Amino acid sequence: MSDTRKVTLKTFRFNAETDYLPYYKHYELEVGKDELMLDLLNRIKWEHDGSFSYRRSCRHGICGACGIKVNGKATLACKQNALELVELFGDELLIEPQSKKRVVKDMIIDKKDFWDKHAEVKPYVVAEIDPHPEHETKQSIEEFNKFLDADLCIQCGSCHYACPAVEVNEDFLGPAAFTAAYRFTVDTRDEAGKERLELTSQMGPGVWDCVKCYECAEACPKEINPIEKITKLHNMQFEQGVAVPNVATRHAEGFLRGMKKYGLLDEADIVSYSEGYLGMYKHLKTALKMLKAGKIHWHSGVPFINSVPKIKHLDEVQKLIKISQTNKL
Ligand code: SF4
Ligand code: SF4
Ligand code: FES
Repeated sequence: MSDTRKVTLKTFRFNAETDYLPYYKHYELEVGKDELMLDLLNRIKWEHDGSFSYRRSCRHGICGACGIKVNGKATLACKQNALELVELFGDELLIEPQSKKRVVKDMIIDKKDFWDKHAEVKPYVVAEIDPHPEHETKQSIEEFNKFLDADLCIQCGSCHYACPAVEVNEDFLGPAAFTAAYRFTVDTRDEAGKERLELTSQMGPGVWDCVKCYECAEACPKEINPIEKITKLHNMQFEQGVAVPNVATRHAEGFLRGMKKYGLLDEADIVSYSEGYLGMYKHLKTALKMLKAGKIHWHSGVPFINSVPKIKHLDEVQKLIKISQTNKL
Protein backbone atom coordinates (compact mmCIF):
# COMPACT_ATOMS: atom_id res chain seq x y z
CA MET A 1 0.00 0.00 0.00
CA SER A 2 1.49 3.41 -0.97
CA ASP A 3 1.97 6.08 1.69
CA THR A 4 -0.66 8.52 0.39
CA ARG A 5 -3.57 8.32 -2.05
CA LYS A 6 -5.81 10.94 -3.56
CA VAL A 7 -9.31 10.06 -2.39
CA THR A 8 -12.70 11.54 -3.25
CA LEU A 9 -15.14 11.58 -0.37
CA LYS A 10 -18.73 11.67 -1.56
CA THR A 11 -20.48 12.87 1.54
CA PHE A 12 -24.17 12.72 2.45
CA ARG A 13 -25.54 16.09 3.53
CA PHE A 14 -28.92 16.88 5.01
CA ASN A 15 -30.21 19.26 7.61
CA ALA A 16 -33.64 18.10 8.81
CA GLU A 17 -34.50 21.65 9.88
CA THR A 18 -33.80 23.41 6.58
CA ASP A 19 -33.43 20.91 3.73
CA TYR A 20 -36.25 19.34 1.75
CA LEU A 21 -34.02 16.67 0.18
CA PRO A 22 -30.57 15.29 0.95
CA TYR A 23 -27.65 15.90 -1.40
CA TYR A 24 -24.01 14.77 -1.71
CA LYS A 25 -20.90 16.98 -1.54
CA HIS A 26 -17.52 15.87 -2.90
CA TYR A 27 -14.22 16.57 -1.19
CA GLU A 28 -10.82 15.59 -2.56
CA LEU A 29 -8.18 14.77 0.03
CA GLU A 30 -4.64 13.43 -0.06
CA VAL A 31 -4.93 10.66 2.51
CA GLY A 32 -1.98 9.34 4.53
CA LYS A 33 -1.48 5.69 5.42
CA ASP A 34 -2.09 6.21 9.14
CA GLU A 35 -5.23 8.31 8.84
CA LEU A 36 -8.47 7.00 10.24
CA MET A 37 -11.91 7.70 8.80
CA LEU A 38 -12.46 10.03 11.76
CA ASP A 39 -9.37 12.04 10.71
CA LEU A 40 -10.98 12.52 7.28
CA LEU A 41 -14.27 13.66 8.81
CA ASN A 42 -12.28 16.14 10.93
CA ARG A 43 -10.40 17.40 7.88
CA ILE A 44 -13.63 17.96 5.94
CA LYS A 45 -14.92 20.05 8.84
CA TRP A 46 -11.71 21.89 9.69
CA GLU A 47 -10.28 22.44 6.20
CA HIS A 48 -13.33 22.56 3.89
CA ASP A 49 -16.73 23.05 5.48
CA GLY A 50 -17.31 23.97 9.13
CA SER A 51 -21.01 23.13 8.85
CA PHE A 52 -20.33 19.42 8.26
CA SER A 53 -21.71 17.55 11.30
CA TYR A 54 -20.91 14.20 12.90
CA ARG A 55 -20.53 12.73 16.36
CA ARG A 56 -17.26 11.82 18.02
CA SER A 57 -15.88 11.93 21.51
CA CYS A 58 -13.26 9.43 22.70
CA ARG A 59 -11.30 8.68 19.46
CA HIS A 60 -10.45 5.31 21.00
CA GLY A 61 -13.34 3.00 20.04
CA ILE A 62 -14.90 3.35 23.49
CA CYS A 63 -17.76 5.86 23.43
CA GLY A 64 -19.60 4.44 20.39
CA ALA A 65 -20.40 7.90 19.01
CA CYS A 66 -18.70 7.85 15.61
CA GLY A 67 -20.58 5.08 13.78
CA ILE A 68 -21.13 5.82 10.07
CA LYS A 69 -21.42 3.82 6.84
CA VAL A 70 -18.74 3.83 4.15
CA ASN A 71 -19.88 2.42 0.81
CA GLY A 72 -22.66 0.75 2.79
CA LYS A 73 -20.26 -0.90 5.26
CA ALA A 74 -20.93 -0.21 8.94
CA THR A 75 -17.82 1.58 10.19
CA LEU A 76 -16.61 2.96 13.49
CA ALA A 77 -14.80 6.03 12.15
CA CYS A 78 -12.16 6.26 14.88
CA LYS A 79 -11.15 2.61 14.50
CA GLN A 80 -11.11 2.26 10.75
CA ASN A 81 -7.99 3.01 8.72
CA ALA A 82 -9.05 5.05 5.67
CA LEU A 83 -6.67 3.52 3.10
CA GLU A 84 -7.83 0.03 4.03
CA LEU A 85 -11.27 1.08 2.78
CA VAL A 86 -9.70 2.60 -0.35
CA GLU A 87 -8.07 -0.78 -1.00
CA LEU A 88 -11.48 -2.39 -0.63
CA PHE A 89 -13.69 0.09 -2.50
CA GLY A 90 -11.39 2.18 -4.72
CA ASP A 91 -10.57 5.91 -4.70
CA GLU A 92 -14.12 7.17 -4.13
CA LEU A 93 -15.59 6.62 -0.70
CA LEU A 94 -19.28 7.15 -0.09
CA ILE A 95 -19.71 8.55 3.42
CA GLU A 96 -23.21 8.16 4.81
CA PRO A 97 -24.96 8.08 8.20
CA GLN A 98 -25.88 4.77 9.82
CA SER A 99 -29.54 5.29 8.88
CA LYS A 100 -30.59 7.89 6.31
CA LYS A 101 -34.21 7.94 7.42
CA ARG A 102 -33.19 8.96 10.95
CA VAL A 103 -30.86 11.83 10.00
CA VAL A 104 -30.89 15.00 12.06
CA LYS A 105 -27.88 16.56 10.36
CA ASP A 106 -25.34 14.95 7.98
CA MET A 107 -23.86 11.98 9.92
CA ILE A 108 -25.86 12.67 13.08
CA ILE A 109 -28.92 10.46 13.45
CA ASP A 110 -31.69 10.22 16.01
CA LYS A 111 -30.92 6.96 17.84
CA LYS A 112 -34.09 7.03 19.96
CA ASP A 113 -35.33 3.66 18.71
CA PHE A 114 -31.95 2.12 19.56
CA TRP A 115 -31.89 3.50 23.10
CA ASP A 116 -35.56 2.70 23.78
CA LYS A 117 -35.03 -0.92 22.76
CA HIS A 118 -31.82 -1.13 24.76
CA ALA A 119 -33.66 0.13 27.86
CA GLU A 120 -36.48 -2.37 27.32
CA VAL A 121 -34.25 -5.39 28.06
CA LYS A 122 -33.14 -3.94 31.43
CA PRO A 123 -29.44 -3.64 30.56
CA TYR A 124 -28.24 -3.78 34.17
CA VAL A 125 -27.98 -6.27 37.00
CA VAL A 126 -31.36 -6.57 38.73
CA ALA A 127 -30.83 -7.81 42.28
CA GLU A 128 -31.78 -7.19 45.89
CA ILE A 129 -28.59 -5.69 47.25
CA ASP A 130 -27.71 -5.73 50.93
CA PRO A 131 -26.92 -2.06 51.66
CA HIS A 132 -24.28 -3.12 54.20
CA PRO A 133 -22.65 -6.23 52.71
CA GLU A 134 -20.03 -8.01 54.80
CA HIS A 135 -18.21 -9.41 51.79
CA GLU A 136 -18.06 -8.87 48.02
CA THR A 137 -20.23 -10.84 45.58
CA LYS A 138 -17.73 -13.15 43.97
CA GLN A 139 -17.87 -14.73 40.54
CA SER A 140 -15.68 -17.46 39.18
CA ILE A 141 -13.59 -16.87 36.07
CA GLU A 142 -15.93 -19.23 34.15
CA GLU A 143 -18.98 -17.25 35.27
CA PHE A 144 -17.31 -13.99 34.28
CA ASN A 145 -16.19 -15.36 30.90
CA LYS A 146 -19.78 -16.20 30.00
CA PHE A 147 -20.60 -12.54 29.46
CA LEU A 148 -17.15 -11.10 28.83
CA ASP A 149 -17.36 -10.36 25.12
CA ALA A 150 -20.97 -9.15 25.33
CA ASP A 151 -19.82 -6.79 28.07
CA LEU A 152 -17.52 -5.04 25.57
CA CYS A 153 -20.50 -3.57 23.66
CA ILE A 154 -20.07 0.19 23.29
CA GLN A 155 -23.66 0.76 22.06
CA CYS A 156 -22.39 2.22 18.79
CA GLY A 157 -25.52 1.03 16.94
CA SER A 158 -23.53 -0.38 14.00
CA CYS A 159 -25.22 -3.78 14.24
CA HIS A 160 -28.67 -2.30 14.90
CA TYR A 161 -28.62 -0.09 11.81
CA ALA A 162 -27.13 -2.84 9.66
CA CYS A 163 -29.94 -5.24 10.60
CA PRO A 164 -32.58 -5.82 7.90
CA ALA A 165 -35.10 -7.08 10.48
CA VAL A 166 -34.88 -3.74 12.34
CA GLU A 167 -35.63 -1.96 9.06
CA VAL A 168 -38.80 -3.91 8.25
CA ASN A 169 -40.15 -4.63 11.75
CA GLU A 170 -40.28 -1.64 14.05
CA ASP A 171 -41.01 -3.84 17.09
CA PHE A 172 -37.89 -6.00 16.59
CA LEU A 173 -35.52 -5.28 19.48
CA GLY A 174 -32.41 -5.75 17.38
CA PRO A 175 -28.99 -7.35 17.82
CA ALA A 176 -27.55 -4.83 20.30
CA ALA A 177 -30.54 -5.11 22.64
CA PHE A 178 -30.34 -8.93 22.43
CA THR A 179 -26.62 -8.78 23.20
CA ALA A 180 -27.43 -6.75 26.33
CA ALA A 181 -30.29 -9.11 27.24
CA TYR A 182 -27.90 -12.06 27.00
CA ARG A 183 -25.10 -10.29 28.89
CA PHE A 184 -27.25 -9.61 31.97
CA THR A 185 -29.26 -12.83 31.85
CA VAL A 186 -26.13 -14.99 32.16
CA ASP A 187 -24.75 -12.84 34.98
CA THR A 188 -24.96 -14.95 38.14
CA ARG A 189 -25.79 -11.86 40.23
CA ASP A 190 -28.88 -11.01 38.19
CA GLU A 191 -32.47 -11.98 39.03
CA ALA A 192 -34.40 -10.73 35.96
CA GLY A 193 -33.28 -13.41 33.50
CA LYS A 194 -36.71 -15.02 33.13
CA GLU A 195 -38.30 -11.64 32.43
CA ARG A 196 -35.74 -10.93 29.69
CA LEU A 197 -36.18 -14.39 28.19
CA GLU A 198 -39.96 -13.91 28.11
CA LEU A 199 -39.57 -10.55 26.39
CA THR A 200 -37.08 -11.82 23.83
CA SER A 201 -39.19 -14.92 23.09
CA GLN A 202 -42.17 -12.92 21.80
CA MET A 203 -42.99 -13.01 18.11
CA GLY A 204 -42.31 -9.55 16.68
CA PRO A 205 -39.89 -8.00 19.16
CA GLY A 206 -38.05 -11.23 19.99
CA VAL A 207 -35.17 -13.30 18.70
CA TRP A 208 -37.41 -15.49 16.54
CA ASP A 209 -37.82 -12.71 14.00
CA CYS A 210 -34.06 -12.62 13.33
CA VAL A 211 -33.44 -13.80 9.76
CA LYS A 212 -29.90 -15.03 10.56
CA CYS A 213 -28.20 -12.95 7.89
CA TYR A 214 -25.06 -12.37 10.04
CA GLU A 215 -24.97 -8.65 9.11
CA CYS A 216 -24.68 -7.80 12.82
CA ALA A 217 -21.60 -9.99 13.22
CA GLU A 218 -20.02 -8.31 10.19
CA ALA A 219 -20.87 -4.84 11.44
CA CYS A 220 -19.66 -5.06 15.04
CA PRO A 221 -16.36 -3.20 15.57
CA LYS A 222 -15.79 -5.01 18.88
CA GLU A 223 -16.17 -8.49 17.37
CA ILE A 224 -18.97 -9.36 19.74
CA ASN A 225 -20.95 -11.49 17.30
CA PRO A 226 -24.54 -10.63 18.32
CA ILE A 227 -26.04 -13.48 16.28
CA GLU A 228 -24.18 -15.94 18.51
CA LYS A 229 -25.86 -14.33 21.55
CA ILE A 230 -29.21 -14.57 19.76
CA THR A 231 -28.66 -18.30 19.26
CA LYS A 232 -27.82 -18.67 22.95
CA LEU A 233 -31.03 -16.84 23.87
CA HIS A 234 -32.95 -19.32 21.68
CA ASN A 235 -31.43 -22.21 23.62
CA MET A 236 -31.97 -20.58 27.00
CA GLN A 237 -35.65 -20.06 26.18
CA PHE A 238 -36.02 -23.82 25.62
CA GLU A 239 -33.81 -24.78 28.57
CA GLN A 240 -35.67 -22.56 31.02
CA GLY A 241 -39.13 -23.51 29.80
CA VAL A 242 -39.93 -20.07 28.44
CA ALA A 243 -40.33 -21.08 24.79
CA VAL A 244 -43.99 -21.37 23.79
CA PRO A 245 -45.26 -23.35 20.79
CA ASN A 246 -45.48 -21.06 17.81
CA VAL A 247 -44.41 -21.16 14.18
CA ALA A 248 -40.83 -20.24 15.10
CA THR A 249 -40.24 -22.71 17.92
CA ARG A 250 -41.94 -25.47 15.92
CA HIS A 251 -39.63 -24.59 13.03
CA ALA A 252 -36.64 -25.22 15.33
CA GLU A 253 -38.18 -28.51 16.48
CA GLY A 254 -38.97 -29.48 12.89
CA PHE A 255 -35.32 -28.97 11.95
CA LEU A 256 -34.26 -31.40 14.64
CA ARG A 257 -36.95 -33.94 13.68
CA GLY A 258 -35.55 -34.15 10.16
CA MET A 259 -31.98 -34.44 11.37
CA LYS A 260 -32.90 -37.26 13.76
CA LYS A 261 -34.95 -39.10 11.15
CA TYR A 262 -32.80 -38.70 8.03
CA GLY A 263 -29.61 -36.84 8.99
CA LEU A 264 -30.79 -34.22 6.49
CA LEU A 265 -33.05 -31.21 6.50
CA ASP A 266 -36.61 -32.21 5.58
CA GLU A 267 -37.88 -28.94 4.10
CA ALA A 268 -41.40 -30.19 3.43
CA ASP A 269 -41.82 -31.60 6.94
CA ILE A 270 -40.53 -28.38 8.52
CA VAL A 271 -43.19 -26.37 6.71
CA SER A 272 -46.07 -28.72 7.51
CA TYR A 273 -44.91 -29.21 11.12
CA SER A 274 -44.42 -25.51 11.87
CA GLU A 275 -47.30 -24.02 9.89
CA GLY A 276 -49.80 -26.89 9.58
CA TYR A 277 -51.17 -28.32 6.35
CA LEU A 278 -53.28 -25.22 5.74
CA GLY A 279 -50.21 -23.02 6.20
CA MET A 280 -48.48 -25.05 3.49
CA TYR A 281 -50.72 -23.45 0.86
CA LYS A 282 -48.85 -20.18 1.40
CA HIS A 283 -45.70 -21.87 0.18
CA LEU A 284 -47.19 -23.78 -2.75
CA LYS A 285 -45.42 -21.59 -5.32
CA THR A 286 -42.04 -22.19 -3.67
CA ALA A 287 -42.79 -25.90 -3.32
CA LEU A 288 -43.49 -26.16 -7.05
CA LYS A 289 -40.20 -24.42 -7.80
CA MET A 290 -38.43 -26.85 -5.44
CA LEU A 291 -40.10 -29.80 -7.15
CA LYS A 292 -38.92 -28.49 -10.51
CA ALA A 293 -35.39 -28.10 -9.18
CA GLY A 294 -35.41 -31.67 -7.85
CA LYS A 295 -35.27 -30.57 -4.22
CA ILE A 296 -38.45 -32.42 -3.26
CA HIS A 297 -38.32 -36.14 -3.80
CA TRP A 298 -41.16 -38.51 -4.64
CA HIS A 299 -41.81 -41.49 -2.42
CA SER A 300 -44.21 -44.22 -3.62
CA GLY A 301 -45.60 -41.69 -6.07
CA VAL A 302 -46.34 -39.13 -3.34
CA PRO A 303 -44.27 -35.97 -2.90
CA PHE A 304 -43.42 -34.51 0.55
CA ILE A 305 -44.13 -37.60 2.68
CA ASN A 306 -41.10 -39.56 3.90
CA SER A 307 -39.44 -38.22 0.82
CA VAL A 308 -35.93 -37.58 2.10
CA PRO A 309 -33.33 -40.31 1.66
CA LYS A 310 -31.52 -41.32 4.86
CA ILE A 311 -27.82 -40.57 5.04
CA LYS A 312 -25.19 -43.23 5.65
CA HIS A 313 -24.20 -43.54 9.32
CA LEU A 314 -27.42 -41.94 10.54
CA ASP A 315 -26.83 -43.57 13.92
CA GLU A 316 -23.68 -41.42 14.33
CA VAL A 317 -25.70 -38.24 13.78
CA GLN A 318 -28.35 -39.43 16.22
CA LYS A 319 -25.66 -40.09 18.84
CA LEU A 320 -24.15 -36.63 18.30
CA ILE A 321 -27.57 -35.01 18.74
CA LYS A 322 -28.09 -36.94 21.96
CA ILE A 323 -24.72 -35.90 23.37
CA SER A 324 -24.89 -32.24 22.35
CA GLN A 325 -28.55 -31.37 22.87
CA THR A 326 -28.78 -29.08 25.88
CA ASN A 327 -32.51 -28.52 25.83
CA LYS A 328 -35.66 -30.57 25.68
CA LEU A 329 -37.86 -29.73 22.72
S1 SF4 B 1 -28.49 -11.95 12.04
FE1 SF4 B 1 -30.49 -11.35 12.88
S2 SF4 B 1 -30.08 -9.73 14.34
FE2 SF4 B 1 -28.21 -10.00 13.08
S3 SF4 B 1 -28.46 -8.48 11.47
FE3 SF4 B 1 -29.33 -10.39 10.67
S4 SF4 B 1 -31.52 -10.30 11.20
FE4 SF4 B 1 -30.48 -8.73 12.40
S1 SF4 C 1 -22.89 -5.29 19.60
FE1 SF4 C 1 -21.13 -4.38 18.53
S2 SF4 C 1 -22.05 -3.26 16.82
FE2 SF4 C 1 -23.68 -3.71 18.21
S3 SF4 C 1 -23.87 -1.87 19.45
FE3 SF4 C 1 -22.51 -3.29 20.56
S4 SF4 C 1 -20.45 -2.75 19.91
FE4 SF4 C 1 -21.84 -1.77 18.47
S1 FES D 1 -15.09 8.58 18.88
FE1 FES D 1 -15.62 7.22 20.50
S2 FES D 1 -15.92 5.31 19.50
FE2 FES D 1 -15.22 6.64 17.93
